[in-house]
Amino acid sequence: MSHPDGIAPHGGQLINRIVTGTQREEFLSKADFLPRVQLDERAVSDLQLIAIGGFSPLTGFMRKADYDRVVEEMHLANGLPWSIPITLSVTEEVAAPLEEGSLIRLDDSTGRYIGVLQLSEKFTYDKAREAVKVYRTDEEKHPGVAVVYRQGNVNLAGDVWLLERDPHPLFPTYQIDPAQSRAAFREKGWKTIVGFQTRNPIHRAHEYIIKCALETVDGLFLHPLVGATKEDDISADIRMRCYEIMLEHYFPNNRVILAINPAAMRYAGPREAIFHALIRKNYGCTHFIVGRDHAGVGDYYGTYDAQYIFDEFEPGELGIQPLKFEHAFYCKRTLGMATTKTSPSLPEERVHLSGTKVREMLRRGELPPPEFSRPEVAAELAKAMKV
Ligand code: ADX
Repeated sequence: MSHPDGIAPHGGQLINRIVTGTQREEFLSKADFLPRVQLDERAVSDLQLIAIGGFSPLTGFMRKADYDRVVEEMHLANGLPWSIPITLSVTEEVAAPLEEGSLIRLDDSTGRYIGVLQLSEKFTYDKAREAVKVYRTDEEKHPGVAVVYRQGNVNLAGDVWLLERDPHPLFPTYQIDPAQSRAAFREKGWKTIVGFQTRNPIHRAHEYIIKCALETVDGLFLHPLVGATKEDDISADIRMRCYEIMLEHYFPNNRVILAINPAAMRYAGPREAIFHALIRKNYGCTHFIVGRDHAGVGDYYGTYDAQYIFDEFEPGELGIQPLKFEHAFYCKRTLGMATTKTSPSLPEERVHLSGTKVREMLRRGELPPPEFSRPEVAAELAKAMKV
């Protein structure tokens, strides 16, 4: 679909819910009179993503009709694809005094007034159903399911406004919101842009699949997720330094834009791959990389389930093209990165390490081998893990 800014945002229009002018003044003047709800880290990032258009066409937290259809059928009530519920869940005690139709003040975890919700609906929901449909398991040890079970029993729905788009406290220069990324792509003259989601320190398999994609498109939007992740994932600041190192040494500068994705990680595997693709479509990407076990955790999902799920949508329905990659490894026979599509190697000739294994090595003070990680990145990780 064409659009003045390149590819059309999901639903056709880039949402902007950052309030300005007299409406903002009015919200601020009501600060002490509105009922308050405190948001956790995930809800704060969801509010931001709605406000900046990363979740277009959502204008607020989901109503029951949207929620039910998303959980059951991966579509919003209006028929557009959407795979992950975006809900504001609170306890019954918090929900009880809140009246439908009223304005609610939204605070962050420090009690700072950051946004407003026009409460259109409160509804209870079935957590086990959400877990099984969205995460394909109801096991509480799944980190995404654990969040669902921990959160309140009532969802508050309705349109939201963000009072201020603050610079990111750690990565202000990499905070490039969808309107800006679209402008940047236009300015560079890029027509085809591949988005790359990651929550791990960049390794050579990442680099390989990114570069395979870069051979065929105009530019790369390197878009690591910096919202809430599970405790044992490597922190965003360490990962960002690794991406910077990669860009400095191993990528042509003019073909890449590095920016942060403020979303929280769900670990929902296949469903999250669709969600990740739609977010990148809103940022202006035309293509999106989906490799092995995208957004997976443990062994809840099959290696390529996150690729197969794209076939459940009509051709063109998602409006962004997935680029699917097989498990990549360093091949000792051909002396380069490869997959089974490009190398005749035997399994013992392939170097691949899991994220868990790399973290264990680093904790023991060992460096991952150069076949797995670029030495500058390995050194940075080793330094960071020692502190
Ligand atoms: S994710 O949770 O964000 O998917 P990660 O940062 O590890 O985790 O992966 C980023 C992207 O690279 C995902 O699309 C993932 O499928 C892909 N990927 C990671 N490792 C490999 C690999 N060895 N081979 C192919 N694709 C990979």
